[in-house]
Amino acid sequence: MKKGRTKGRERWGTQLGIVLAMSANAVGLGNFLRFPVQVADNGGGAFMIPYFVAFVLLGIPLMWTEWGIGRFGGRYGHGTTPGMFHYLWKHPLAKYLGAIGIVIPFALVLYYTYIVSWTLAYSVFSFTGAYLGIENYQGMVDFLSAYQGKVSNQYFSGIGSAYLFYLITLGLVIWILSRGISKGIEMLAKIAIPLIILFGVVLVIRVCTLGTPDPAYPERNVLNGFGFIWNPDLSILSQSKVWLAATGQIFFTLSVGFGAIQTYASYLSEKDDVVLSGLATSSTNGFAEVCLGGAIAIPVTVAFFGLAQTQEIAASGAFDLGFFAMPIIMQQLPLGQLFGTLWFFLLFLAGITSSVAMAQPLMAFLQEEFKLKRKTAALIIGVVILILTQPVIFFLKYGFLNEMDFWIGTLGLVVFAIIEVVLFFWVFGADNAFKEIMAGADIKLPRVFYYIMKYVTPIYLIILLGFWFFQDGIDVLLMKGVPAENYAYIWFARFLLGLILVVMLISVRIAWQRKHVIRKRVP
Ligand code: TRP
Repeated sequence: MKKGRTKGRERWGTQLGIVLAMSANAVGLGNFLRFPVQVADNGGGAFMIPYFVAFVLLGIPLMWTEWGIGRFGGRYGHGTTPGMFHYLWKHPLAKYLGAIGIVIPFALVLYYTYIVSWTLAYSVFSFTGAYLGIENYQGMVDFLSAYQGKVSNQYFSGIGSAYLFYLITLGLVIWILSRGISKGIEMLAKIAIPLIILFGVVLVIRVCTLGTPDPAYPERNVLNGFGFIWNPDLSILSQSKVWLAATGQIFFTLSVGFGAIQTYASYLSEKDDVVLSGLATSSTNGFAEVCLGGAIAIPVTVAFFGLAQTQEIAASGAFDLGFFAMPIIMQQLPLGQLFGTLWFFLLFLAGITSSVAMAQPLMAFLQEEFKLKRKTAALIIGVVILILTQPVIFFLKYGFLNEMDFWIGTLGLVVFAIIEVVLFFWVFGADNAFKEIMAGADIKLPRVFYYIMKYVTPIYLIILLGFWFFQDGIDVLLMKGVPAENYAYIWFARFLLGLILVVMLISVRIAWQRKHVIRKRVP
């Protein structure tokens, strides 16, 4: 064994397990809730063009980059980006840049898991018929608002049930984490991915056989729903908004730019392939997104509400298609309660496997850099998540969650992606990076990707960041359009994110100091 290289880290069980776990990481609420809304909101078929461009020029290159960096770091006993960057760039700053790769997924888990718990609740509600009889849109809006504790009405008079479902969801996440890589995460993926595909296919078949539900509105049919997603209206391509949305969706859905793929990849062994597996993961995710996610919520809503209203619903919020339109529609179908349960349980499975992936970087950090036992680390993380999620739960109506999502889910990941691509291809060196990715590969990576990864991806990213900053960033920063009573909460969200970052930077510093001391002591 070469000096400095560690044996005895946890490993994935099988190659199939690797691809399933990585796919479970990537396939999430983004595929089934976010994607349809983005498509409907950005011109339907036209959206698919920038979407595929971003998939090839950003998504796949970043996927390979992160797998490569991750496996490389794992070789040196590091499952998180501070350690990985430390070996890519021999500079004291490198590890601090890497701290962002723990902060981003950890901040995401704080609000993502809360949303995942709603899907669990709704699958139970579908099963028990709790929303049965609410047949208009506003009724479902009121139902969710009361569930979230924003208002109190005949459906819920407090946040109790939302809180309970959150505790169950978080408990499951922590339990899976405490079981470790192959017995926890890989096992869960082996159960969840087949079920997601099965439920997804059942729902898609149901959607495809809907025809024209209401003969009084012949244009409201499933075919028009599919037509909307697949007939491109090229005129919309001149709008930068559509390009930004498509690129953002690629990032979010593939989980790239977050620091989480690297952690999963660090449990590869040195001989494991990266190229084919990374491609298989991206394709599985693409299948789940386009063929399943794109074939459920939109066509069904077009069939029941018509095209104009579908777009209106999508424009009003990220969850409106999934949480409002779907339950109303499901009730009108034979066996509707069952289909409703399937839909929300599919979302839950997709979501919980992603939640686990977001928390694993911090797990790895505590286990490796602070030598904590796995169960202790899981417990600590559980308690910290529980505490820090309180404002997300209680300040939801003041835009707390949305503010966090902008900094983490829109801006943060682009910044982090730029850092990692520059470190890997420009500091560590494009030739080394390409060799690193190609090592142990089951298929040959076309040479053109060398140039794409070295030039196109970083330039694309920097342009993206610039656009984002000037189009949305300044407005968000200055809180344009935010009601004055929300200011304090927005500042609190920023403070919390800043605090997490500072704590992480200090932890990295302490971890490295301790290592230094240990190294000095050993002759
Ligand atoms: N890809 C996930 C989804 O589609 C969301 C996600 C974004 C994610 N970043 C992540 C999951 C990091 C795990 C780790 O919903």
